[in-house]
Amino acid sequence: MAIQWFPGHMNKARKDVMERLKEIDVVIEMLDARLPASSANPMLARMAKGKPRLMILNKQDLADPAITSQWLEWYRAKKQTQAIGLDAGERAPSQKLVAACRELAPNRGGLDKPLRVLICGIPNVGKSTLINSMSSRKIAKTGNMPGVTKNEQRIILADDVELYDTPGMLWPKIEVEEGGYNLAASGAVGRNAMDEEEVSLELLKYLLQHYVPELTARYKLDEVDGLQDWQVLEMIGRKRGAMLGGGRVNIQKAAEIVLTDFRDGNTGRITLERPQEWVVWEKRAKEL
Ligand code: G4P
Repeated sequence: MAIQWFPGHMNKARKDVMERLKEIDVVIEMLDARLPASSANPMLARMAKGKPRLMILNKQDLADPAITSQWLEWYRAKKQTQAIGLDAGERAPSQKLVAACRELAPNRGGLDKPLRVLICGIPNVGKSTLINSMSSRKIAKTGNMPGVTKNEQRIILADDVELYDTPGMLWPKIEVEEGGYNLAASGAVGRNAMDEEEVSLELLKYLLQHYVPELTARYKLDEVDGLQDWQVLEMIGRKRGAMLGGGRVNIQKAAEIVLTDFRDGNTGRITLERPQEWVVWEKRAKEL
């Protein structure tokens, strides 16, 4: 396919972020814990090079906890990088963020020069939800910080820690084919940019490889051993009554059911990529 997703404003966002980064001590990148590498923005990694980074694996309530642990270890092993898991149910997310940022930049901050943190993330990772949950009564208008518009908001996370939201939109940049499918499965890619049948088949292929118990339980399937993704999609369509005339399965409807169930967490706690898999996919993409 496959996923055609390169919306405009990318260059504008890049310039805005570059400008903002000059004053920033720690860069937070919010990721979707179900697809941490695919939901990262490779451009941001290059722009923030040399700065301490905090990776937030958000929506961990939807992800496979064992694989989230693998990813947290993977990120923590990188230089100047910390990683935490999070979800919208976290009672005091700002405390978690502040602790991680202080650890990353122990010599920064103080009442006269606060620790400045920038939060970035592609759409749909849950950035607005997190910011809203942390910002009640703590929003301040920005002062004269270079590159910051007067009316832009900053969030006071602690007396000496300020959080800034990314200016503009940071879109995903698809460099790895599997990453494109994973983004599409998660709902981060616009409907017009993908073929739902193809995305659901890729999703089913992965579930058949790693999550057979969850798959069979969700759709009350007896046996999927040796079956192909398209055969399973047809079975799901039949089970769910997604039929056209003449006993044919409505494949589009079946694909929508599979995708919606995954997005809503109805299929179970599932992660679509493991660190070691990602290394292989990325290597293959670079060789192409
Ligand atoms: P964004 O700013 O990064 O684009 O994401 P946003 O906060 O708008 O969140 C995108 C969707 O993800 C929202 O659902 C939101 O409720 C959901 N979400 C955010 N954080 C979490 C989390 O930790 N766990 C789970 N399970 N979901 C999370 P939506 O269906 O688009 O909207 P709504 O149903 O909340 O209205």
